[in-house]
Amino acid sequence: MQSTQKKTIYKKIILTTIVLIIYFGIKILQKPISECSNLDIQVFNQDTIKDFNGTNEDKPIYIAYNGCVYDVTPGKDKFYGVEMEYNYLTGKDSSEELNIAGGGIIKNKYKVIGKYNP
Ligand code: HEM
Repeated sequence: MQSTQKKTIYKKIILTTIVLIIYFGIKILQKPISECSNLDIQVFNQDTIKDFNGTNEDKPIYIAYNGCVYDVTPGKDKFYGVEMEYNYLTGKDSSEELNIAGGGIIKNKYKVIGKYNP
């Protein structure tokens, strides 16, 4: 193969690699951006969400995760009620913990009732 042909191929490979790195880089950076930010629903912040942590029997239990607020009250007796294993995730933004484990379950299992903006 002629060296100019080789150079053209190398250039194409390098260009494709750069485009792929930029594409996936943007995708990864965009991930934490809220999936709920564009929805026209009630907005919570760290003050307004904190009472929804199971301590008040009359109130539902909420968890903020990646910008969305989920009503996890149906899981109260098993997971989120006071003294249950995952109560520590309620009434606040638990994205950090849920991005390690459990976030997928929350997303599939519970209803979004608001968006979170600290
Ligand atoms: C950063 C650590 C962890 C977090 C934040 C986390 C969070 C969660 C969440 C949010 C759920 C969904 C509960 C629901 O259905 O509403 C879940 C389910 C579950 N987790 Fe974890 N988890 C963690 C670590 C662990 C570990 C280390 C174990 C086991 C040794 C474990 C065992 C389970 C089991 C068995 C379920 C399913 C329970 C069921 O559906 O009956 N988790 N977790």
